[in-house]
Amino acid sequence: MCGIVGYVGTRPAVDVVMGGLRRLEYRGYDSGGVALVTAEGIASAKRAGKLANLDAVLAEKPLPHATTGIGHTRWATHGAPNDVNAHPHLDATGRIAVVHNGIIENFALLREELEAEGYEFLSETDTETVAHLVHRALQATPDLGDAVREVCRRLEGAFTLVIADADTPDKVVGARRNSPLVVGRGDGENFLGSDVAAFIDYTKSAIELGQDQVVEITADDVRVTDFHGVPVDTKEYTVDWDVSAAEKGGYDWFMVKEIHEQPQAIADTLLGRIGSDGRLQLDEMRLSDGELREVDKIIVIACGTSYYAGMVAKYAIEHWTRIPCEVELASEFRYRDPILDHTTLVVTISQSGETMDTLMAIRYAREQRARVLSICNTNGSTIPRESDAVIYTHAGPEIAVASTKGFLAQVVACYLLALYFAQAKGVKYGDEIRSILDELEKIPAAVQTVLDRGEQVRKLANDLSDSRSIMFLGRHVGYPVALEGALKLKELAYLHAEGFAAGELKHGPIAVIEDGVPVFVVVPPKARDQLQEKILSNIQEVRARGARTIVLVEEGDDSVVAYADEVIRLPKVPTLLQPLVATVPLQIFACEIATQLGHDVDQPRNLAKSVTVE
Ligand code: F6R
Repeated sequence: MCGIVGYVGTRPAVDVVMGGLRRLEYRGYDSGGVALVTAEGIASAKRAGKLANLDAVLAEKPLPHATTGIGHTRWATHGAPNDVNAHPHLDATGRIAVVHNGIIENFALLREELEAEGYEFLSETDTETVAHLVHRALQATPDLGDAVREVCRRLEGAFTLVIADADTPDKVVGARRNSPLVVGRGDGENFLGSDVAAFIDYTKSAIELGQDQVVEITADDVRVTDFHGVPVDTKEYTVDWDVSAAEKGGYDWFMVKEIHEQPQAIADTLLGRIGSDGRLQLDEMRLSDGELREVDKIIVIACGTSYYAGMVAKYAIEHWTRIPCEVELASEFRYRDPILDHTTLVVTISQSGETMDTLMAIRYAREQRARVLSICNTNGSTIPRESDAVIYTHAGPEIAVASTKGFLAQVVACYLLALYFAQAKGVKYGDEIRSILDELEKIPAAVQTVLDRGEQVRKLANDLSDSRSIMFLGRHVGYPVALEGALKLKELAYLHAEGFAAGELKHGPIAVIEDGVPVFVVVPPKARDQLQEKILSNIQEVRARGARTIVLVEEGDDSVVAYADEVIRLPKVPTLLQPLVATVPLQIFACEIATQLGHDVDQPRNLAKSVTVE
């Protein structure tokens, strides 16, 4: 949700900033802009639409040389995505350039105050207010860092700011509250970015910034303070993936690449977590077995696809640990007066680690004295930093806006958590945990098998690309899979799609079934006879009303073949693990149908990765 870059060094800043923005474009693609600190002052360019539009502007009218610069790629919240609202915003004198992610809630008041003093505004944006405020602060202090700190103390809301000053050409200042910003440390150059992808071409050395901190970068120095100028300790870390992970690597789309990376993402998420004695070890758990044994309720909180991973987690947690588990949408959680205390464990799931709804749920849960464990894919992000414990998924950077490998890795991490709990509680131990872990270790190969059979699904997508509406049904852990299949299709293909618990069908949704409507059905493994019988009836119910049934069923199970217009075979895995193989054909289907319809599957309309507003 908005990508931000800052650079000070010796390279042409426009190249570094534009390169960083290209890597961050998945965070927002409504407009882009760049400002450089040149010998003649600030030079800037901005343009609505994807970065290609800004590239064209810069090609036609190149900016003067500079080695200090900032840039922005926007996902519009307030204000239309047009040229005027694009960032950077400058103060009226053109001395200060600001890029911003977030919402300054008290900007109207601040604007009134500035206008009363004679400041003239060119746009309606909250960001321009910051440019004027910094300009005003610089009348009283010569130091850009001091000026930004003074301004931050006045701001309410959520913001990442990166600011350049024509009179301080060798420095860029950043600030953050409730919105992400990381520092990249180079040799004779330093970087700021919304995430590490912004500077991965130049350095893997990164510094986390905490809440309410200001960072000043020059070519040789990084200085971090709080909003009052008190220096703070920072945590430096090395990015554990390299530039090739952020490239398409021969695939046409990041999404296709990420779908194919899923066996590796699962293997990496399991790596090093199963000891030679068969016991699970989770290094970043930070909660003792004793603390885990105190837990009498688990609430899983997440948004979107991560929420569906949470729905799968509920089945696994309750089955393996016998601890009651609720799953809740982060955006709903804190507004319903939930019951939780120090014996409640809140588990949040977030690929980006920056989702504002989830972050706010964490803060609320901690206020109620609950412990928080986060499952997260992004090292150095806010959510794990604000949690008591963390399980990192090691899926590598997920660049396509719609989550795929992030989801599968989350589901694996949820299983690990459930089994770890079972181990700590002694509910299931020894052979039983070992056998489940053995099955998990076979999953990368099973997912590879599904990928190898992708052609069947792609052909099906071709056949169904003119559908107006597509349904997905599942029971048990197949239910969240159905929801995820429908979400992927909506996001990528802009098609009407719905996922249902198959048993709910007869309570209403069956009314929408009509002749020819494609209905995907995730059939539980044969081992679950009862579930199987029920889903067979559900398939017959929709067939009787003219639906075209596409049935996902494990190898060797022929019970449904007679009722299926198309059978997609899944490798045989234990019931609870089935989402790891059943989701993959649905991802391929959505991706393929979207490309056939001519959509950009990496950057679907209206969306952005990492949603940092509530
Ligand atoms: C769907 C998708 C979103 C995210 C949701 C949560 O494909 O990507 O629904 O799952 O915005 O994001 P994270 O996991 O980063 O908190």
